[in-house]
Amino acid sequence: MYCVREITEDLYWVGGNDRRLELFENIHPIPKGVSYNSYLLLDKKTVLFDTVDWSICRQFLDNIKGVLGDRPLDYMVINHMEPDHAACIEEVILRYPDVKIICTDKAFMFMNQFGFHVGDRVIEVKEGDTMSFGKHEVVFVSAPMVHWPEVMVTYDTTNGVLFSADAFGTFGALDGKLFNDEMDFDRDWLDEARRYYTNIVGKYGPHVQSLLKKASDLDIKMICPLHGPVWRTDLEYFIDKYDKWSRYEPEEKGVMIVYASMYGNTEAASEDLARRLVEKGMTNVVMYDVSNTHVSYLISETFKYSHIVLAGVTYNLNIYPPMLNYLMDMKSLNLQKRTVAIIENGSWAPQSGKLMRELLDEMKEMTILDEEMSISSAITEEDADSMDDLADSIIDSMK
Ligand code: FEO
Repeated sequence: MYCVREITEDLYWVGGNDRRLELFENIHPIPKGVSYNSYLLLDKKTVLFDTVDWSICRQFLDNIKGVLGDRPLDYMVINHMEPDHAACIEEVILRYPDVKIICTDKAFMFMNQFGFHVGDRVIEVKEGDTMSFGKHEVVFVSAPMVHWPEVMVTYDTTNGVLFSADAFGTFGALDGKLFNDEMDFDRDWLDEARRYYTNIVGKYGPHVQSLLKKASDLDIKMICPLHGPVWRTDLEYFIDKYDKWSRYEPEEKGVMIVYASMYGNTEAASEDLARRLVEKGMTNVVMYDVSNTHVSYLISETFKYSHIVLAGVTYNLNIYPPMLNYLMDMKSLNLQKRTVAIIENGSWAPQSGKLMRELLDEMKEMTILDEEMSISSAITEEDADSMDDLADSIIDSMK
C-alpha cells in the first residue's frame, strides 16, 4: 500500500520514515527517527528527485508505483549520492529500465565506486545547466561539500521549488506531517535540526554560505530537503538558522558548562559556578555531564551557546577520554568563535587545563579566558573567591 503526500498539483512526496534505526551513519542516536524524502514530478515527463535509504525501499517503490500508475519513469535526478538517499537507484532501474539518470560527474563516479550498474543512462550536468520536463524547467546548482563533493541542488524555475539535498534537513520522522506549517517546528524540531546540521554538515560552513549566496539569487517558494519537513512558509526563519550555524555564530548569549567528573567533585565545582552565574544575573546556563551525553548533543549545544565552560579531571595525565572526544569533535567540525573558560581538577598532577587550552588554541577564533580554576581533588571554602572571580570573568566577557 502506498503512502504519499501531495505537495503541489503535480509534485508528490514519495519518501518514508525509519523509526527503527538507532544510529544515523552508525554514530548519531536518532531517538525520534528520521525521514528519507524523495519527490516525484508528473509533468509531460515524469521525474524522480533522489531515492531513499535501503531500509524503506519497499515502501518507496510502492509509493512510486502508486503515484505513477501505468506511466513510465523518464528521469531520476540524483542530487546526492550518499547511500541514505542513493541506495535504491538500481531497484528503480530494475522496475523502470528506460529511466535516464541526471547527476554531476562526481555523482556518476560515486555510482561506479559503490558498484551500481547504471549502464549508459547517465546524463551529466553541471552548474547552470537547465532541463525542461514539459511545463517545468529546472536549473542545476552545484553545492559541493553540502555535504559531499558531488552534491547539487535543483531549482524548479516554474514554481520556485528548491530540491535542496541535505541542506535544510533535520533528524526526526514525520509522523504523517510533511509541511513545516503542520508542526510547531521551533518547539518540537529545532533542537534535532540543529543536531543534524551541526554534526552532519557543520564542518562545511563556508560551503553552506556559498550555497546560501547562490540561493539568495533565486525566488524560492518552497524548500524540499532530503530529510525532515518541506518548507512552504516562513522560509526566512530556517534560512536564518542555517546562516548563523554556517557562520559559526551562536544563537544565544548563554553559558554551556560541560563537565567531566569521576566521583562528583568536578561536577560539584560546576554546580557552584552555575549557581554563581545565575545569582549574578546570567540565567541562561545549561550543564552537561560529558560521560552521559552523546557527543552529537554536546556539539549541537556548543553551536547554540556563546560561552562554554570546560570542567575536566585529569586522567592518566591526559584529558578525560569523553572530554577529549568532545574536543576532537569540536575541532574536526570546525567549531569556532566561542568564549571558553576552563576548570581543571587533579589530585596530584593536574594537566587537563593546560591540555584543553592547547586543543582550543588549535581551533579558530576561540577566546580563552585568562581566569582559570585549578582544583585539587575537590573545591573547599578557600576556592570561593576564585570561583567568584571566574563567574565575574565570564559575565564580563558577555558585555
Ligand atoms: Fe542525508 Fe549526506 O546524506
